[in-house]
Order: sequence, then structure tokens, then C-alpha cells
Amino acid sequence: MSMSKCQQLSSALFKQQKNVRLMSLWWSNVEQGPPDAILGVTEAFKRDKNPQKINLGVGAYRDDNGSPYVLPSVIQAENRLLKKNLNKEYAPISGILEFCNESIKLALSAESPIIKNGCFASIQSISGTGALRVGAEFLKRYAPLKTIWVPVPTWGNHGQIFKFSGLEVKTYRYYDPKTCGLDFSGMIDDLSSAPTGSVILLHACAHNPTGVDPKPEQWKELSDLLKKKKLFPFFDMAYQGFASGNVDRDAVAVRTFLSDGHQIALAQSFAKNMGLYGERAGLFSLTSLDTDEANRIMSQLKIIIRGMYSNPPIHGARLVSEILTDPQLKSHWMVEVKGMADRIISVRDKLKELLANEGSTRNWQHITDQIGMFCYTGLEKEHVKKLIEDHSVYLTNDGRISMAGVTSKNVGYLANAIHKVTSQ
Ligand code: LMR
Repeated sequence: MSMSKCQQLSSALFKQQKNVRLMSLWWSNVEQGPPDAILGVTEAFKRDKNPQKINLGVGAYRDDNGSPYVLPSVIQAENRLLKKNLNKEYAPISGILEFCNESIKLALSAESPIIKNGCFASIQSISGTGALRVGAEFLKRYAPLKTIWVPVPTWGNHGQIFKFSGLEVKTYRYYDPKTCGLDFSGMIDDLSSAPTGSVILLHACAHNPTGVDPKPEQWKELSDLLKKKKLFPFFDMAYQGFASGNVDRDAVAVRTFLSDGHQIALAQSFAKNMGLYGERAGLFSLTSLDTDEANRIMSQLKIIIRGMYSNPPIHGARLVSEILTDPQLKSHWMVEVKGMADRIISVRDKLKELLANEGSTRNWQHITDQIGMFCYTGLEKEHVKKLIEDHSVYLTNDGRISMAGVTSKNVGYLANAIHKVTSQ
């Protein structure tokens, strides 16, 4: 007996649904993962209906009205690009050459012998995270030891970036909760015990999450130690210009190591200092002994990139190039970076002052001692929970607040909330 057309259709549909059900069995072992320690805070913030809510979780600069800030120099660069009527062809695997050359110059300075002699391999990356990821992939293949040492604490994403690349992650002491400052002797002790050939991750400036940086003379001591112990420095420089307001001053650690003769790895990002968060413009570089070595490194970086994402996006890199290649636009940008850093410094002062006015008897000196985008408040998990639940003030679980989200309008509310949760 032959099936009617209608029966045939419904039997086909049944088979299709059964196949879908069978396929879903493939992923039944996938567990629900936790929200991201930093970006998950923004998701919770967005769900909150309190009109006074403040997001101090993610490190993204806000103007004094609490709005995202598109730098005027970036708008100008954008307008220029529009007039150029550029096409949307693929970038080379290693990215836009002009962007790479200008970015490395920004970090090392145009006078650097490394640049003059072509002793580096730089590739455009998917912002700072992508630079770290490509760098880690290279280290896993070619570093003598597949171990990277990171400070405690460090940026919440470092651990997984390096682990996902197959590196073993070890830690060194960095922050002293008693002083809310640098545990320099702990750092020296731990790094002295790292086996020769280990990779050491260093935050070049504006340490995330603590806002605590070594002083120039301490960088020198660290450089000497790493050299003596034959340890390899990997600098994460996501905040050049954001710590002091001056891009050269913030590059002091990187430049000290280079003038001491180290070879280094360097991850750069233009998310913060140009406000290009979503454009994902960054750079990964390795310095080399000579140009031949640089070429060989470059060939391997290109193989890694081709297998990961083929080639990088073009728009953000074009914006950066436009700014860095025009001396006038570049100097406007530098003023804007300083403006952002200065606004953060001024709200640090205000927050400390208002906490004192609230009658807080705790020592808040570290709010103004720490630099860069973040303040590592010393607030405990219980305080953080209360700030979120009772006051809609969102911050990461470790007590880090993004000072970039504090404004002259919400700083009073914030000081009052912090005082309330810490005095209960
Ligand atoms: C942060 O630390 O908040 C920023 O670097 C943003 C991010 O991706 O985590």
C-alpha cells in the first residue's frame, strides 16, 4: 500500500526530528560554564534596573557623564579614511605593515637600535588578548621551557590564555595586601627560584588589577635578575599612556630591559589608549639577534596565524596608522590620552576625599598611590557582594574597581556605598 503525499511528508519530518534529538545527545555532557570574572559583571549590570547603578567591572574608559568615549583624534582619522575610499581586501597574514611598524616604534621609540637594525618580528594581533595568544602559541613551540610565570594577582584572562596554548602557568608574588603595594622582595625571591629558560610575564605599566607598578630603579633590578638567571621577559603592555598620561614614561620598563640587552616578547593593545576596544587592534612582537632571525620568527608567526584566524581585521589598524603617521594628529591623540589619565587621577583624589568626609576610618591611601585604570580596593568578597546587592555598584569579585567608570557625578554615591559596606 503506497503512502499518501501527506504521510510521506510527516514521516520525513519525524525522521528529521529524531536525527536532531540524536545529535543533541552528543553534547549532553557539556556542563554550564561560569560567567567570565570580568565581562560577566557587565552582563549582571545590564540586568539591574536601579537607575543609580554603576559599572566598575570592565576596564573601559568613560567620560565624566559615564558615557563611552570616542577620541576626537579617532573621529578625525575615521573621516580621513572615509575620504580615501579604501577597499576591503584581506590584510596580509601579519597585518598592515605600516600599523606594525608605527606601533612597535611607539613602544620602543623611533631611535631604538632594534628598530633601526630591523631586529624584530611584529604581527598585527586581535588586540592584546590576541597578541598574548599568538605569543603563547609561539612560546609553546619554540621556548626552551614551556612554563610561564605570572604575578599574583594578574589579569583574569592571563591564566586561561596561556593554559589554552599549552603552557604551564606558575606564579610569583607581586602584591602585598598589608601595604596595598608591591611585594618587591617576594617578587625577587620567587623569580630567583624560577628555572633558567622560564618565561616571565610582566605588566609593562598600570598593572591590572592592582594599579601597582615597580619603580624605574626596581625595573632595573628586575632586568638584572632576569638576565643573570637567563629568564625570558614577556611584556604585556595594554595601557601605554594610561598610567602616567605619557606614552614614553609608560614604556620605561620595556626600554630598560632592551637597553640592558634582553630579547623580549611584547603584547600591545590600542583598546584603552585609543579607545578602540571593539576594533581589536594590537601587536605582538619578538625582538631578535639579527634580521635573519627576525625573518625566520616572522615565517613561523605567519604559520601560526594562518591556522588560527588567517589574517587580522583592517579597520582598527588603519585608524591607528592614520593617527601615528601624522605628527599633528598624533600630538592631538597624546593630549587626549593625558586627558583620560588625568581624569582618572582626579577621581581617585575625589573618592579618597569623600570617603574621609563620610567618616571612614580605614586607610584609603592606596586609592591615590595606585595608578592606571584600576584600583585594587582591598574590599573583601562580602563587601563586594553587598555593594552589588544593596547598592548596584558592580565590580569584580577580587575588589578591583575600574576607576574609569567613576565620574564627578557618581563618586559621592560610590563613596557612601563603600563606607556603608565597610563600616557594617
Ligand atoms: C579588563 O581587565 O577589564 C579589561 O582588560 C577588559 C577585559 O577584556 O578583561
